[in-house]
Amino acid sequence: MLKYTFISLLFTLSVLASVVKEHRFRIPNQTSTHFIGRAPINRSVKVCDVGSENITECKTLENTLEIAKFITGTRIKVQVRDEPLAEVHKYFFTGLLHVEDLIMCDCGVIYIEAGTFFPLISLKKLDLRRNYIEHIKPGVFNYLLLAELDLSHNKIKIVEADALNHMKNLRQIDLSNNLISTYDPKWFLDAPNLSQLHLENNFVRALPESAFRNLIDLESEINIFFSFNRINFVHPLAFNDMGKTTIEKLYMDHNLLDSWHANWSMNINDLKIAFNNVTCIHGDIAAVIKNNTLQNFAYNPYNCTCLKEIKIIGDGYGLSSQWFMDKYLRCRHDFKPRNAPHRAALRNMQIFSSP
Ligand SMILES: *[C@@H]1O[C@H](CO)[C@@H](O)[C@H](O)[C@H]1NC(C)=O
Ligand SMILES: *[C@@H]1O[C@H](CO)[C@@H](O)[C@H](O)[C@H]1NC(C)=O
Ligand SMILES: *[C@@H]1O[C@H](CO)[C@@H](O)[C@H](O)[C@H]1NC(C)=O
Ligand SMILES: *[C@@H]1O[C@H](CO)[C@@H](O)[C@H](O)[C@H]1NC(C)=O
Ligand SMILES: *[C@@H]1O[C@H](CO)[C@@H](O)[C@H](O)[C@H]1NC(C)=O
Ligand SMILES: *[C@@H]1O[C@H](CO)[C@@H](O)[C@H](O)[C@H]1NC(C)=O
Ligand SMILES: *[C@@H]1O[C@H](CO)[C@@H](O)[C@H](O)[C@H]1NC(C)=O
Ligand SMILES: *[C@@H]1O[C@H](CO)[C@@H](O)[C@H](O)[C@H]1NC(C)=O
Repeated sequence: MLKYTFISLLFTLSVLASVVKEHRFRIPNQTSTHFIGRAPINRSVKVCDVGSENITECKTLENTLEIAKFITGTRIKVQVRDEPLAEVHKYFFTGLLHVEDLIMCDCGVIYIEAGTFFPLISLKKLDLRRNYIEHIKPGVFNYLLLAELDLSHNKIKIVEADALNHMKNLRQIDLSNNLISTYDPKWFLDAPNLSQLHLENNFVRALPESAFRNLIDLESEINIFFSFNRINFVHPLAFNDMGKTTIEKLYMDHNLLDSWHANWSMNINDLKIAFNNVTCIHGDIAAVIKNNTLQNFAYNPYNCTCLKEIKIIGDGYGLSSQWFMDKYLRCRHDFKPRNAPHRAALRNMQIFSSP
């Protein structure tokens, strides 16, 4: 008897729950977020309306065609969630014609089949942050009309030469916080709208010849972020073939550069080379400093001649930097060593004094 009551109560509750679910469920219009989960192999997915931050309602649908019917709004954001979703296959998004934002963060994604995103013809923003993707192959992103692609915080080691080509609307790509050690100048062929390239926190070692050749003739200026890499080699012709393109920002701070050449900077407005191993900027230093804050050039072991020149040019522009002030004073005071200097002092002198 007790058992029967319990079962019946449970039954009533679950019916009630599903009725409530059905009742409260709505097909959101305009900008609303959905939430898809469950095994893609079975093509049965869980879609949740998370329009107001919290998951308000979920529904398990048998296949993606049902989702397509279900998601009919005009500007749709879909969030996919699975625990974990190691592989994403190409039938997963069939019929999702109206989805503009697809978020698949923290999903444990390792592999994405070529063609997976092709059915998402309205897709503008694809967010694949914090997965375990190691290798970007051709066929996954080519020809997508995305404006934004976020692949940051993955385990990317290899981006094949033609994996990011033919993305006509791509404005922003984020490859930061990965394991990339080679920047390939063949990337971004036919990506004429690219204006933000994020590669911070990788292991890039060199800027090769004509590094930005595919960013030639961009309509807009471009910002390129290489902060926190291992760059210690810049090819003398790295900035060749830039055409009319201006690099608005080039951030190369926290690398291992040991010099900088003025003629690399011709197309660069805002250069940052702080925290490197630069002993001198060669050529027309004023052309490198331009209007930039001197802070962009601080924290390098400049020799005294070079340091003075940079500071004087900075003073001329009305720029100032405490770091340069301190080092400049040091250069003047440490000018002549007395007796046998301490080892640390000697090292400082090698770095900061002029002979
Ligand atoms: C979206 O839904 C709200 C209320 O549900 C309604 O007021 C609004 O007009 C709808 N917008 C569109 C574009 O259908
Ligand atoms: C799909 O789901 C059904 C029932 O939920 C299950 O029996 C079947 O094994 C699943 N198929 C695959 C390929 O996982
Ligand atoms: C989301 O849920 C948290 C706690 O569960 C609550 O504090 C918060 O107000 C909710 N936010 C919205 C937008 O409903
Ligand atoms: C991309 O650039 C082309 C011209 O090169 C332009 O016609 C198109 O509108 C741009 N797309 C976006 C999204 O800016
Ligand atoms: C930069 O200067 C080097 C020599 O200092 C020269 O070989 C090279 O052609 C110059 N590059 C440009 C773009 O002018
Ligand atoms: C910085 O440059 C000096 C030579 O000028 C070199 O001995 C040293 O190893 C470099 N430091 C790093 C971290 O590469
Ligand atoms: C410095 O910046 C100002 C305004 O930002 C600009 O008008 C001026 O031309 C710049 N000067 C140089 C030398 O770049
Ligand atoms: C500082 O470095 C520049 C470029 O390497 C060099 O020409 C100059 O002689 C150096 N000056 C001193 C005092 O070491």
